[in-house]
Amino acid sequence: MTTDSVIHAELPRRESIDGRPAWRLRTRTTDVLLCLGANDALLLPYWGAGGQSASISDYLLHPQGNRPSQRAFLDGQPVAYPVYGDALFKEVCLVIVRPDGSRDTRLSFVEDRAQHIDGHAVLDLVFADELVGVRVTHRFTIIAECDVIIRRATIENQGSRNLMLERALSAALPLPPDVYDAYTLHGQWGREFELNCRPLAAGKFVLESRRGMSSHDAHPWFAVRPRGEHAEHSGSVWFGSLAWSGNWFCSLEVEPNDAVHVTAGIQPFDFGWRLEPGRQFVTPDLVGGYSDDGLGGASRLLHAFEEDAWLPASHKSIPRPVLYNSWEATTFAVRVDQQIDLARRAAKMGVELFVVDDGWFGARDNDFAALGDWTVNAAKFPRGLRELIDEVHALGMQFGIWVEPEMVNPDSDLFRAHPDWAYHVDDREPTYGRNQLVLNFARDDVRAHITEQLRRLLSDHGSIEFLKWDHNRSWTEVGWPEQPELQREVWARHVFGLYDVLATLRQEFPKVLFESCAGGGGRADLGMLRWTDQVWTSDNTDAADRLNIQFGYTRAHSPRVMVNWVTDVPNQQTGRVAPLKFRFHVAMQGVLGVGGDIGEWSEAELDEARELIAQYKDIRQLVQFGRQYWLRPPEPIGACAVQYVSPTGDRTVIFIYQTRGLRGAGVRRVRLRGLEVDRRYRREHDGAQSSGAALMAAGIPADVVDPRNPRPMLDFYSNFQVWNAI
Ligand code: DGJ
Repeated sequence: MTTDSVIHAELPRRESIDGRPAWRLRTRTTDVLLCLGANDALLLPYWGAGGQSASISDYLLHPQGNRPSQRAFLDGQPVAYPVYGDALFKEVCLVIVRPDGSRDTRLSFVEDRAQHIDGHAVLDLVFADELVGVRVTHRFTIIAECDVIIRRATIENQGSRNLMLERALSAALPLPPDVYDAYTLHGQWGREFELNCRPLAAGKFVLESRRGMSSHDAHPWFAVRPRGEHAEHSGSVWFGSLAWSGNWFCSLEVEPNDAVHVTAGIQPFDFGWRLEPGRQFVTPDLVGGYSDDGLGGASRLLHAFEEDAWLPASHKSIPRPVLYNSWEATTFAVRVDQQIDLARRAAKMGVELFVVDDGWFGARDNDFAALGDWTVNAAKFPRGLRELIDEVHALGMQFGIWVEPEMVNPDSDLFRAHPDWAYHVDDREPTYGRNQLVLNFARDDVRAHITEQLRRLLSDHGSIEFLKWDHNRSWTEVGWPEQPELQREVWARHVFGLYDVLATLRQEFPKVLFESCAGGGGRADLGMLRWTDQVWTSDNTDAADRLNIQFGYTRAHSPRVMVNWVTDVPNQQTGRVAPLKFRFHVAMQGVLGVGGDIGEWSEAELDEARELIAQYKDIRQLVQFGRQYWLRPPEPIGACAVQYVSPTGDRTVIFIYQTRGLRGAGVRRVRLRGLEVDRRYRREHDGAQSSGAALMAAGIPADVVDPRNPRPMLDFYSNFQVWNAI
C-alpha cells in the first residue's frame, strides 16, 4: 500500500452537525457525508468532489425542503436507507413484517464502529428497533484509491419471534434537487449492454431483472449526470453497480422537490425471507462512486476497482490467456479427433488456452438431453477426456471445459433419478427454455451433488485449467412444493447457493480460471465477478455489433473481464462479412479469443491470425491492465476509436474502426488521453514522433482510408497504433 493510500484509508471519525452525529467518508478525490436527521434517520446529504472543505458543515447549507406543517416528514430529504415506518412516501429499502402482521419499523441510532478490513477503512453504523427486535447495520467500505464506497446492510433478528423480510435492499443513494439524466445498460440475448440515456423526470424509473439471472434485459449498473452533460471525459457522474447475480431492482425516483432518490438491491417482487431469532440477512454489495471526469472517468474507476479490490485474488494479476473455443465450429458434434485437430491448429496460431464447449458429456447430441450428467461421453471420447487434455498440454496450451451446472434436461439420468430437484409447481406443466429446467440450487442435496460431479470432472482427467460456467434460460415455475415456507426465499437462496458452490470449487481448485456466461452476457454482474475471472460478453460475435456491445460493457466493467472471439464469416448471428483483420482488431479490445472453425481457414488466414495474435500479445498488458479511454464512441457511419494507456503513461495503443464510411467525409482527428504532457513519444510502426502535450491537444488523424486510392473501400476498416515514451 502506498503512503497516499494509507492517508486515504484513514478511518472516518464521528463528527457533529448541529449537535447530531455525522461522519465524513473520504476517498482519493471525493467526500461522502452522513449524518442523523429527524428521528435518527440516516441522511446522506453530500456525495461528490471532495477535499475542498475542511469543515463537514460547509457542505450542508441547503435547508430542509418540506412545508412547515410537514417538517416531520422525510420526503425530499437525502435519506440513505428509508424503511417502511419512516415518515416518508418514497421507495423504501426495508419492509419487516412482525408475527401480528404489523409492518412498521423505526430505527434508532445505536453506535458507530470504524475499523480497517483488508487495508480498507470500514465504517459500520448500527441502528435498532427494540419493539420489532431488529438491528440493522449499515456497512460502508471505503475503496479510497478507486473513489468508490461499497454499501451493504445486515439485518439481524434480536428478538424472540420470527420476522419476515418482505424487502431488503442494499442501499439508497440520494442526490440533491436538480435536473438529471440517467444512463443505463439494456438489451437482450445477442444485443447486450446498449447504453441508454434518458431524462429523469417526475416519477419513478425502474430497472430490474425478474428472470433469475442479472444482465440480459438490463444490467445492474447506472450512472446519473446533470441534465445535458454528455461529455465523455468531463463532468459530474454518480454511478452504482450492484453485486447480485439474480433478480434485482433499482429505482431512480424524482421527488416532488426534484431531489433524486436511487435505491438498489435484491428484487422485492416475489421475495420474502423468514428471519428467525438470532439469524441475520446480509444484502448484496452496492458499489457507488463519483467522478468529475465524465462517463469515461466513472468507468475507469470501476475498472480499477475490479482490478484492485474485487476480482478473485488468485488470478487478479495474471494476464488472461488467448483462448480458442470450439462451440461455433462444432456445436454439439464434438469428437476427440476433430478437437485434437482444432487444438493443433490453435496452438500453431499462438492460442494459449483450448476450450471444449457444450457437447462433450452424457448423451449430449443436441440441446434436448444430458444437462445434469457431467460425465464424459464415451462415444465421443472412447479413450476418455484425458487423451485430449494430454494432447492440448503437449501442444503447450492450457485446457478448459464448458459446463452448465444449474440446469437439467428432463432427458437426463439426473432428472430421471431426481425429478423433484428441478424447480416445479405441483400439477402444473413446466415451461421449457432450450428444452431444459432449472435445478433448485437452494437445496443442499442439489448443490452437494453438482459440486461432487464438478469436483470429479476437475480432478479425474488430468489438469483442467479453465471452466466456462454457462446458464441458458430464464427461470419459470420457481417453486419448491416440499418446502412451502421457503417458496419466496428460493430466488435469493439459489444465488447464495451458486456463490457457495463457486467458492468451494475455487478453494479446492485454486489454479482454475472461471468464466461466467449466460447465453452470452446474461450474467455479467459484480456478484459473478467476485467468483469468476472473466465474462463471455455476448453470443453475438458480429464484429460491427460487437463494437456497441463492448462499448456498453466497458462502461461498467474492465476490458480484462470481457471475452471476445473472432468467428467465421458470414457471421452466424447476422450474416455480415467483415475482414479477418477487422474481426481481430475488435476482439483485441479485451480478452482475445478465437471461435471460428479454424479447420476450414485457409493457410493465408491462419498466417494472418498468427500474426494478429502475436500483435495482441505484444499489447495485451496495455489492454488488460491499462486505462481505457473511448476517444470516439461507435457510430453507424464514421470512425470510432478507443485508447489504452499503461499505468505510468509511457505506452499507449489506439484502435480505430470504421464499420461504414461516408464518401467525401473529411478525416477526423482523435485527441489522445492520459499521456505525460512533457514526454516525447515514438510511434512503433513508422517511427513518427510527437510530444504527449501535442498528441493530447491536436490528436492524431483517424485516417481510415488512403486518400490516394481512387477506389477506396470505406467499410470495415480498422487499424491500431502503439506509441512509446522515448
Ligand atoms: C451459450 C453460450 O453463450 C455459448 O457460448 C455456448 O457456450 C452455448 N451456450 C453452448 O450451449
